[in-house]
Amino acid sequence: MTASHSLTADALTLAYGDRVIVDDLQLQVPPGKITAIVGANGCGKSTLLRALARLISPNAGQVVLDGKALHARPSKEIARTLGLLPQSPIAPEGIAVADLVGRGRHPHQKLLARWSARDYEVVAQSLAVTGTDDLAERPVDELSGGQRQRVWIAMALAQETDILLLDEPTTFLDVAHQVEVLDLLTDLNRDRGTTIVMVLHDMNLAARYADHLFALRTGRIVASGAPNEVMTSELIREVFDLDALVVPDPVSGSPIVLPRGRHHVSPGGARMATVTTTTGSEFADGR
Ligand SMILES: Nc1ncnc2c1ncn2[C@@H]1O[C@H](COP(=O)(O)OP(=O)(O)O)[C@@H](O)[C@H]1O
Ligand SMILES: [Mg+2]
Repeated sequence: MTASHSLTADALTLAYGDRVIVDDLQLQVPPGKITAIVGANGCGKSTLLRALARLISPNAGQVVLDGKALHARPSKEIARTLGLLPQSPIAPEGIAVADLVGRGRHPHQKLLARWSARDYEVVAQSLAVTGTDDLAERPVDELSGGQRQRVWIAMALAQETDILLLDEPTTFLDVAHQVEVLDLLTDLNRDRGTTIVMVLHDMNLAARYADHLFALRTGRIVASGAPNEVMTSELIREVFDLDALVVPDPVSGSPIVLPRGRHHVSPGGARMATVTTTTGSEFADGR
């Protein structure tokens, strides 16, 4: 198990020019847990994640890692502790998969030093667990969106950081690969104690895989807590302006969101009042 680091946002204000996106936000990342950030398009999720990784600097307030402001720490030290997979990462033109994944080792290498046995081992492992070892020699430019996404995840894994921030890591992946990536991140969390913070747009996967949710609306946190406690139809309405039923997932018992849409009513004709699942538990409508 790795040491747990503390990562907090303290009165954080983030803006592009004079347009404030995140205003006076307070947040503490639960150490050693899996956290999901959810919210509507454009509400500031990626902006917040970039600030947590020091890719953008605050207009006010600060991000604090282990008691010290992020901007006061050397970049290489941050890169050894905290990895970020951005929403739309850009690979250098023509780079091969294994070389891109190898760049994840940079924070661990001395300038101009040769690769260590550990570097080779970690890159090979990262390719293997993401199922990208067959692609090792291929140029990243020539891969499908799903293959490329798995290669970026391999690179993030190769960085071997105790904190991993991922912005919509399941983008471009089919449902089987989405579940595979989230299972892999869960293994990493359980086996190594890696703290994971990810932006997820699928509320059901977020509820199933995260220990903790932060729900954002226009740059403010409107709910923070375990999915079972905070995922309610009121929250879905507040965050997405969406009319939805929240019921227990028959597989995991975590909440599942069923949007009603304008064209669907329950088999009985009227809107459903309660839903009983195979787990036998009931969530009242409008929870
Ligand atoms: N580089 C940028 N320059 C100016 N505005 C930006 C930039 N990046 C994002 N924005 C704006 O900031 C807001 C929040 O964006 P973002 O954090 O990407 O939202 P989310 O990830 O929740 O979809 C959006 O209105 C977006 O248009
Ligand atoms: Mg985003």
